[in-house]
Amino acid sequence: MKLSPNVTSIGQMAHVAQEAGADAISLVNTFVAMSIDVVTRKPRIANLTAGLSGPAIKPIAVRMVYEASKSVQIPIIGMGGISTATDVIEYMLAGASAVQVGTASYWDPRATEKIVAELTRWCAEREVPRIAELTGAMQV
Ligand SMILES: Cc1cc2nc3c(=O)[nH]c(=O)nc-3n(C[C@H](O)[C@H](O)[C@H](O)COP(=O)(O)O)c2cc1C
Repeated sequence: MKLSPNVTSIGQMAHVAQEAGADAISLVNTFVAMSIDVVTRKPRIANLTAGLSGPAIKPIAVRMVYEASKSVQIPIIGMGGISTATDVIEYMLAGASAVQVGTASYWDPRATEKIVAELTRWCAEREVPRIAELTGAMQV
């Protein structure tokens, strides 16, 4: 694969990481964001910007997981806005082999425990014997 001087696409970056010896790729982190109070006209964030996480970023993150997974053979760990079992399944269908739950654990410390129970039920109801079979199984 020939890389352009400015490596910008997720697939290209994932490929570079794989070729450099990465065992797996985790994505995404937060997205740099801003918010302004329109009455006081002051920034809501003391540092002006901060990392946006949670459900709002999930569609962006799922797309990035999908693109990375199409470019590498190493496992992808997906994260960004996961709070339910169906969020996990969506990430897996996009190509993730594992996931992380971040922000949801702040509003419910038992979020991961509930997601695992929900995932078990989801798989049993649909006769999915191994959750791993969902990885990359999106039907286009
Ligand atoms: C409070 C908080 C602290 C975080 N600290 C780190 C960190 O130290 N290093 C890092 O790579 N990502 C950090 N992240 C990013 C998360 O690991 C995760 O990639 C991101 O929040 C998206 O997942 P989520 O929507 O489930 O939170 C942090 C996120 C939050 C909300």
